[in-house]
Amino acid sequence: MSVKIAIVGAGSGYMPGVIRGLLHRADDLSGAELAFCDIDADHLALMARLARAMFAARGADFTVTEHTGLESALDGASYVFTTFRPGGMAARHLDEAIPLRHGVVGQETAGPGGFLMACRSVPVLLRIADLADPGAWIVNYTNPTNVVTDAVLRHRPGTRIIGLCDQHVGDTVMWAELLGLPSDGLEADWIGLNHATWAERVRLHGEPIDLPARLAELEVPDGGATPWRDPSRMAELAKALGFLPNSYAKYYFFHDEVVEELRAKGTTRAQDILAMLPAYYASIAAEAAKPDPDPGRERGGGEHGEFAVDVICALHRDERRRVIVNTSNNGAISSLDDDAVVEVPAVVGRDGPVPLTMGPLPAPVRGLTQAIHAYERLAADAAATGDRRVALQALMAHPFVRSKRTAERILQEGLAAHRAHLPQFAP
Ligand code: G6P
Ligand code: MN
Repeated sequence: MSVKIAIVGAGSGYMPGVIRGLLHRADDLSGAELAFCDIDADHLALMARLARAMFAARGADFTVTEHTGLESALDGASYVFTTFRPGGMAARHLDEAIPLRHGVVGQETAGPGGFLMACRSVPVLLRIADLADPGAWIVNYTNPTNVVTDAVLRHRPGTRIIGLCDQHVGDTVMWAELLGLPSDGLEADWIGLNHATWAERVRLHGEPIDLPARLAELEVPDGGATPWRDPSRMAELAKALGFLPNSYAKYYFFHDEVVEELRAKGTTRAQDILAMLPAYYASIAAEAAKPDPDPGRERGGGEHGEFAVDVICALHRDERRRVIVNTSNNGAISSLDDDAVVEVPAVVGRDGPVPLTMGPLPAPVRGLTQAIHAYERLAADAAATGDRRVALQALMAHPFVRSKRTAERILQEGLAAHRAHLPQFAP
């Protein structure tokens, strides 16, 4: 019997990459029904058209169905791939702008911006957990991926969910360049929490790299920062720490500098993306009309789509593949609770991810990571229940905030601004 895979958020600008990922594994998923689901009917129809054209051009045996509601999309699906952004870029703009007004980094996933996003994402994921077939796997990209995964695991016990982020793929490539190593065959044990991972162990074709020696020799490059890469600050940080930080570490260790930069920049990342999206979607529409479409890679380039499809294949085909995912710790990282949702290398097969034993977090970031975890747990509970007191506690616990006054102001403004997406906080 062929498999049904629901894709929630199929109108996303990241879909061309997901379609490429599906093509890449077309033989392994042959005959699958792909249930594209989005509340944006135009973008949904566009991506369905693009997918059908790309599948036809490459002879891939997939059937694409279109759904503007969750019920029919999820019915009978064995895998539910979630890649939506609740409230879209307009809501992301508020997540990025509101904290900044109060002197706090405004970021989509880290800090209060991520908290507000969690409050919008979690209710939808809980609904998906309620509607999904028993036994279905939710493969989640919707951010903040670990908070969402934690909320579903604890507020809908028994749901099968795995949280994804491809940041480690791009970060490993960046570190290969910085350290003068080939990225092919380079593997790092990234451990910690999503967007707060650290790597002390790095191997090239299985052979350990002497990281302290490499970092001692590393020269800090000038500039070169893009929205998702800041090699100069990363190199500076790695030399101080003695191991590799995730790209989001800059928000913790250069917080005030980043606030100044974001303020000076004048526009949010969401506004920058909003400005490029019309041309991007128009170019996809033009490609979809061609016999062999080759859409641009401006959104979700690199391995984003392939990574997700590979995880679905690992579950579906019981591949026992080693991947870095967000899942219950179960002792893999000794410095975090067993039931914490952590980001960790795991072996993924039919029964889900089995995290590999990784030992403790590195001492210089152990306390920070534990503090982020304390925040995340409160954030997951606040987002699931709509308890304002827990919401305030979450923001007070976040390492960017710590101030009760600031937490109160951001919470009040944020909940008001996002009212339409926060049924759980309705009076
Ligand atoms: C990285 C992060 C994702 C995040 C994305 C945003 O890939 O790992 O979690 O959603 O960046 O990229 P954007 O281009 O939308 O700013
Ligand atoms: Mn991510």
